[in-house]
Parts: sequence; C-alpha cells; structure tokens
Amino acid sequence: MPATVIVGAQWGDEGKGKIVDLLAQDSDVVCRYQGGPNAGHTIVVGDETYKIRALPSGIVRGKPCVIGNGCVVDLEVLIGELDEFESRGQDTSKVYLSGNAHLIMPWHLAIDQASERRLGKLAIGTTRRGIGPCYADKAMRLGIRVQDILDPKILRQKIEVALAEKNLWLVRVYESEPFDLETIAAQYESYAQRVRPYVTDTSLYVDQVLRDGKVVLFEGAQATLLDLDHGTYPFVTSSNPVAPNAATGVGIGANRIDRVIGVAKAYVTRVGEGPFPSEIQGADQDRMRELGHEYGTVTGRSRRCGWLDLVALRYAVRVNGIDQLALTKLDVLSHFSELPVCVSYRLRNDVETRDFPAHQSDFHAARPVYETLPGWEEPLDACASVDDLPASARRYVELVERELGVEVTLIGTGAERTSVLTRA
Ligand code: GDP
Ligand code: IMO
Ligand code: MG
Repeated sequence: MPATVIVGAQWGDEGKGKIVDLLAQDSDVVCRYQGGPNAGHTIVVGDETYKIRALPSGIVRGKPCVIGNGCVVDLEVLIGELDEFESRGQDTSKVYLSGNAHLIMPWHLAIDQASERRLGKLAIGTTRRGIGPCYADKAMRLGIRVQDILDPKILRQKIEVALAEKNLWLVRVYESEPFDLETIAAQYESYAQRVRPYVTDTSLYVDQVLRDGKVVLFEGAQATLLDLDHGTYPFVTSSNPVAPNAATGVGIGANRIDRVIGVAKAYVTRVGEGPFPSEIQGADQDRMRELGHEYGTVTGRSRRCGWLDLVALRYAVRVNGIDQLALTKLDVLSHFSELPVCVSYRLRNDVETRDFPAHQSDFHAARPVYETLPGWEEPLDACASVDDLPASARRYVELVERELGVEVTLIGTGAERTSVLTRA
C-alpha cells in the first residue's frame, strides 16, 4: 500500500510512534500532517528511548521526514530535536519542513498558559505548548508561517505587527509580562538561520514521491476524540487528527490515501480534562496507571485510565475510515483477573446505544454498559505469534474485531520496538 495513515483511535498516547517506527522499516517517507509539540511519541530500541515531539517518528529509522503544512512548529523544540538526533548520530538532512506550516511563537505559549490559569476549574488541561493560540491565529489569518523566516526583513516585520497586538492582550487581559521586540527578533533570526535549509514545497515533494511509486506513511498526532470537529469539544486539541485530514495537512488529494490503520490501546487513557465514560473507579485505576506507566511523555502528568470503550472505537472506525487496527499494550492487561469491556452506553433516558452520542450533554451523562471477559493473568513476553497468546487474550481480540467489523492486524505485547505480533 503506497499511502497509509496511522491515526490515534482514542484520546492519544495509543502507541502511534511505535507503530509508525515498525511500519517505517518498509516505507520510504514519513509525514506528520497536524499538531505540534503537544505530541509525545515514544520509541524504545533496546536501551535507547526516543521521545519525539516535532519530527515524524520515521527519523529513528533514518527515513526522509516531512512536517506538513497542517502542523504548527515551535522552532526551539524542532531545533532541539534536530540537534539531539544529530548528536545521536542520525542524519537529519532529509527533513522537509513545509513553508505553509505555522510558527508557534512565544506569545502563543504565554497565552495558552495564562488562558488555562484564568479558566480555573473550567480549564481544558492543555499541554500548554501554545497549540490553541497558534491555530487560532492561523484561522484569524494573523499567523506567522515557516516561509516568513526565509526573509529576515519580512520576519522582523511580522513579529513587530504581531507583538503590537499580543502585548496589549497579554498585559491588559491576562496581566502577564509583555515581550520585547528586539529580543524576539534576534532570537528568531538565529533560529531562522538554523532551519532555513529544511524549508521545502512539501506538497510537491510528497506528490512526486507517490508518483514514483514509493511508500509513504502519514503519522497522526493526538487522536480521534481530541479532534477539533469530531472529538469531545471543548476538551480537544485545536487541529484535526482524523485520517482524512492527512490529505489536507500534507497537500495531496483525498484519493491518494490507500489505507488507514487505527491505533488503540487494549484499554483507554486520557490526559487532561473532559468526559470519560469508561474511566476506572477505585484502586484498579492506579494499578493500571502503574502497570502501563501511564504518565505523559510531554508533561509528565498522570494519565486517567479506563476500560476499553468499543462505542468510542466504533465511532473512530467511522470518522477515520479505519481499515485495520493496531491494538497496543495488551500485555498490561495480563495482571487483571476480569476485564470489563464497554460495548454500549446507557443514556439519561435509559436508552441503550452502541453509537457515539452526537450531543455533548448525552456523552457527559453516558454510563458504560460492560461485557466482562475473563483475564489471562500470564505474561505475553514469550508469545512469538498470535497463536501463542493465551486463549482469553485471543478471545479479547476477537471481541474487538467482532464488535467493530475491523481486523486487528498488529498486537502490542511490550514497549520494545520488537514486541509486536503481526497478523496477516
Ligand atoms: P503515542 O503518543 O501514541 O506515540 O504514544 P506514547 O508514546 O505517548 O505512549 C505510549 C507508551 O506506551 C510509550 O511509553 C510506549 O513506549 C509504550 N508502548 C507502546 N506499545 C506498547 C505495548 O504494546 N506494550 C507496552 N507495555 N508498552 C507499549
Ligand atoms: P500524542 O500525539 C494525549 C490533550 C491535552 C488536552 C487537549 C488539548 O502523544 O498522542 P493542547 O495542548 O493540544 O491544546 O491540549 O489535548 N493532548 C494530548 N493527549 N496525547 C497527545 O498527543 C496529546 N496532545 C494533546 O492533554 O487534554
Ligand atoms: Mg503520546
């Protein structure tokens, strides 16, 4: 399949980085199409752990990597990652950065932080990386784009115009400190010098690569339920992680995408605020967090843990057009004697539904209806193929396939790069 999208099917941190790393072996190019350094994708290779925020995960395999127009770029983070990979002996000369991607500027971080502080109890629980304010400026047509760094005069001018408004906002509305034009202009000119060689017409590049019959991966960040349009608004991110946006976020036609692989944990986690019907109540919540090491890659925050939610996954299959599923972290469930799986929701009027509620109030009030499966209580480390899985683990996977009508083609059995079972 020449063009495959890897998309998060839950609330993020499903193990997308690991799946991209696996498939990158047989791919020619890996592209990010949305989001920014709110992402944290972990890849474990022997004793080495890579935590990647800005670059596509294909960088670990030394593949050409595209940061598409749909992304937002924090130059400080990007340069930090480029430096890190270079110091680890990786070649970064084949990183292609879209001139149409927007820059996360220091005021976006300041506004994200101040706005969350101000919201108090109503806060979204953002990663505070400036994502929302940056995409808001994009939509307002006030943003500074990667291509603006190509000309020092234009860059300075854009910073000056932006600061005239942002400083007023920061001081008068948020009672924060203003930014100094000269300091920021000098800092960004130095970033610009480092990053200019990477700026490329990435739409043209990806189109050419596909015409040449090469294999391209599109790496989603965040996930379906954090999607600005399809997620649990307002507790979402400010971009569209869903698979169809891979085309827009890179600049190719929708008909160029051949396959969509959804990545889902064998349970669910969520970091940040917002409704979460299958969130585990009681001691199993902490147990799951410890067993799965469920702490944020970017923020270190505790992730909330829940039982697998097939209503939400069914919805993810629908809005992404998922053809196949990668089910990660099945090994974490080895420690439970019983495994509740949410197969439907009970709504306020006592109506039971297998479909994800279209209205926020229904979703907030939805109660999970569980089917409880027996656990397997044995480690999966020694499983070399799906046939080696304990019968109860196989039954768990089969329930997912039956309920969703989608095949589970990859099963995660550990954090290490090689701990994955492949089904034809
Ligand atoms: P991403 O944001 O979707 O790429 O996921 P993260 O990297 O934020 O979080 C997934 C975490 O689970 C990382 O620490 C991975 O190393 C780890 N992980 C991925 N797949 C598996 C798996 O199958 N089993 C276990 N135990 N850990 C996994
Ligand atoms: P990866 O790619 C999990 C969540 C934040 C918050 C909401 C909005 O590693 O799966 P933002 O900073 O984007 O404005 O925050 O989205 N969030 C993520 N949760 N994984 C992520 O990325 C996330 N990126 C953002 O916690 O609830
Ligand atoms: Mg993550």
